[in-house]
Order: sequence, then C-alpha cells, then structure tokens
Amino acid sequence: EEVERDTLYKILDLSAKLYHHVLMNTSQGNDGKAYLARRRVNPETAQAFQLGFAPRSYDFLLSFLTKRGYATSLIEKAGLIKKNDSQGTYRDRFYGRLMFPIHDSKGRVIAFGARSFEENEQAKYLNSPETGLFHKRKQLYNLHRAKSSIRKEQNIVLAEGYMDVIMMWQEGVHAGVATLGTALSEDQVKVIKQHTKSIIICYDSDNAGQNAALKALELMRPHELMVRVVPLPIGFDPDDYIRRFGGNSFQKEMIAGALSSTSFQLERAKKDFRLQDEVERLSYIRKAVEMISDLPIAIEQDHYLRKLAEEFQISMEALKEEQRHIRFRKK
Ligand code: GTP
Ligand code: MN
Ligand code: MN
Ligand code: MN
Ligand code: MN
Repeated sequence: EEVERDTLYKILDLSAKLYHHVLMNTSQGNDGKAYLARRRVNPETAQAFQLGFAPRSYDFLLSFLTKRGYATSLIEKAGLIKKNDSQGTYRDRFYGRLMFPIHDSKGRVIAFGARSFEENEQAKYLNSPETGLFHKRKQLYNLHRAKSSIRKEQNIVLAEGYMDVIMMWQEGVHAGVATLGTALSEDQVKVIKQHTKSIIICYDSDNAGQNAALKALELMRPHELMVRVVPLPIGFDPDDYIRRFGGNSFQKEMIAGALSSTSFQLERAKKDFRLQDEVERLSYIRKAVEMISDLPIAIEQDHYLRKLAEEFQISMEALKEEQRHIRFRKK
C-alpha cells in the first residue's frame, strides 16, 4: 500500500518532467510555447511552475511509462490514462494540451490541470480525476510555493484559476493560490487557516465569480478570519488585469484597494436595485441598513451606517431609527 503510493508519486513526478521537457525543449512543444508567449508567460515562469505540453498522441505517456517498467494499473490509478470503451485498451488522458502540474502542500505532484488552446474545444480545462492522492476539495493550487510568502506577509490571495495564480506570481504577488475549478470548500478554508487569518479574495469580475466570492464569504464567516475582496473591473480576471494594466497597478490599485467583506457585500447588493430611481434607491438603503444591523460589532455598525449616510445624504438619526424598526420587526 505504502509502496504503491510512493510509486504513484514517482509516476506523476516523471510525467510532469516529461511534459515539461516536451514543452521547453522539443518541436512538439512549439504551439504551447507560442501560446504562453501570447499570454505573456515568461520562460522563467513556465520553468518555475513546471508547465508542460501533452503531445497529440494517444499513447505518448503510456508508452514512455511502460518502457520504464510501470504497470498499466498504476498509471491508471495515477489518473493519467483511461480505458477506451470499445476495445478496452488504454490511452493517455491528456492530448494536445498545456499541462499544469498540481502539487500537494509538500510539493509532490499529485494531479494535472490541462488547458486546450483550441478555443472551440468543449472543455477548456480538463483536470485529473479524483485518485488516492488527489482530492481536489482538499487542495489549493500553488500552496507549496506560496506558503513561505503567506507566512511572511500574513496574507493569502485566493483566485479562481491557474493562470491567475501564475501571472500574479510572475508580477511579484507570491502568496496566490486557487481552488481547482470548484467552489471553495470547508476543507480548503481549514487549510488556509493553518497558514494565515487574512485572506484577499480575487475572483473574476463576472457574475459567476462575484457570486462565488459571496459564497466564499459565507463559508468563512464562522471562522473568524479577516477577509477582503478585490473588486476587479467588469470583464477582468487577475490574469487579464495584469496583462492589460501591469503587475504594479494590480498590486497598488487592486490588492491594496481590496474592500472589506461588508463593503463588498453592500456593493454587490446594489445590483438588485436601479439606484437612479428614487423609490428603488430608498429600498436599497433600507436593505443596506438591514445588512449592517446583522454585523456582530457595534463599532462596525456605526462605521458602515456613517458611510451609508454620507453616500446617500441621509441623516444618521433616520438610519438609526430604521435600525430600531428592523430590530422591532425581528422580535
Ligand atoms: P483562461 O481562459 O485560461 O484564462 O482560464 P480562466 O482560469 O480564466 O478560466 P475560468 O475563469 O473560465 O475558470 C476558472 C477555473 O475554473 C480554471 O482555472 C479551471 O480550474 C476551472 N475551469 C474552467 N473551465 C473549466 C472546464 O471546462 N472544466 C473544468 N474541469 N474546469 C474548468
Ligand atoms: Mn519573484
Ligand atoms: Mn470565470
Ligand atoms: Mn477567469
Ligand atoms: Mn483567465
């Protein structure tokens, strides 16, 4: 059993090295290299993240590993090949894709993410299946590289995607990690908590990303963490933002300008109201007072009520009066 696990680690490590070699040193990797250059990923970054390319061949990895003496059953358990339904023969799982090795927190390769660069492909990303080594709800992409920076800076930056983490890293934001194509899980929150209490959520600015940020805040609420959210401009994820405006702007304006979780939630609630309309504006203000009244700390309530009063030119007396009404209704 223990021996088997060690062999699986070995198989995955060799595969990462092989894919990386193909990308960096062979003509089969040219498309991949060109693709990374278009996305402004430097060769040093590709090296640091051990990025790779899985050639367009159905048995490239299988035959390499078989020649090295590894049993087909173990290669399958590592998640690298799959059975062809009709003939019952095996083929490589990853074909013609850019490969992102996924490491556990000790730095061992346990899985892969794989991106197609054909834009019309059905699945943009394909991940390794769950295996004995890979439980994606317990892992965070890049944690093993980020953890010393997380400790030092007492901060973690949580993004959605591989490319977000990679571009942040390239631009000097080394405390970045990502979930692996799923919503943030309770297990991942616990992992984060072992390293820091301060989290900056930097998800895509599209609706899916912003709703995922709200869900993440809900999940973190009972954990007494200090959470901030970066409001990226519409249409951007961290990777897009950095390519367009540079890493300096990303750090100085986005990371440093992150909103408190309450400010983010108040901003997000605005989308349900047309604020130009007087009636809807008043409804939003009442909604905001309701949200503020749920805050556990009196100082926070006072702080956000004052901001609201200023933003909408309403007196503090009126907002406090509304708070009393809300408390009364709740009894
Ligand atoms: P790029 O287009 O390469 O910049 O990717 P992205 O990270 O911006 O993609 P997106 O915001 O759509 O998705 C965020 C993350 O969700 C990705 O990094 C993947 O981990 C995951 N993901 C996206 N598309 C798929 C998919 O088709 N299948 C799976 N399994 N995961 C996906
Ligand atoms: Mn650096
Ligand atoms: Mn997205
Ligand atoms: Mn994205
Ligand atoms: Mn992206």
